[in-house]
Amino acid sequence: MDITRRNFIKLAAAGGLILSAGKVFAATNEKILVAYFSRTGEEYGVGHIAKGNTEIVAELIAQKIGGDIFKIEPVTPYPDGYEDCKTVASREKATKARPAFAGDVADFAQYTMIFVGYPIWYGDAPQIIYTFLERYDFGGKKIVPFCTHGGSGLSGTEQRISLTCPAAQLLKGFAISGRTAQSDRSQTDRLVDENLRRFGLIG
Ligand SMILES: Cc1cc2nc3c(=O)[nH]c(=O)nc-3n(C[C@H](O)[C@H](O)[C@H](O)COP(=O)(O)O)c2cc1C
Repeated sequence: MDITRRNFIKLAAAGGLILSAGKVFAATNEKILVAYFSRTGEEYGVGHIAKGNTEIVAELIAQKIGGDIFKIEPVTPYPDGYEDCKTVASREKATKARPAFAGDVADFAQYTMIFVGYPIWYGDAPQIIYTFLERYDFGGKKIVPFCTHGGSGLSGTEQRISLTCPAAQLLKGFAISGRTAQSDRSQTDRLVDENLRRFGLIG
């Protein structure tokens, strides 16, 4: 996309720029990881889903900016049924559980900017997100929280992430309704673009 001189200056401040065939495109020196947790099965407002709402957003982000992707997969899967999942999630929240996830991010130290994605569960991020945040050294790294939700938005999760990773630089996150992510591709696309543009990650 062509950009104005004013935006050029803003983008130059935010990251790198590439001049190609007379047009200027935003680029970045950031090494980006998109890490997310997302659940399939019976879900609020969207019925039985084969691909999680947050996963849809996470994949879009990674595609658009060419970031690496890491899916936070619980070692013990959550129940397929919505009510059963709520029972497990509420117990985990009450006990401040740290559910284990499978695998590991390869060479975590290489990343400078980490998008962390999750559904909102009981007004918070699922406990497994805190397992993830506590596993790695986020010192000096940028964190961009993003969530999908059934109406409550980010719901204070930015502050809780910041408390969990005090040495990280927390950037303003974004929230997309789960129903929109699941069933309105063009609106989801527009919202993701709008947010990536804020960071100068797309032109
Ligand atoms: C256990 C559980 C608790 C939830 N709690 C909330 C909530 O407090 N606020 C809200 O807006 N949505 C809540 N939701 C809805 C999810 O945040 C929403 O459907 C989300 O998009 C699901 O994302 P996923 O498909 O990536 O897992 C809850 C869903 C579940 C399963």
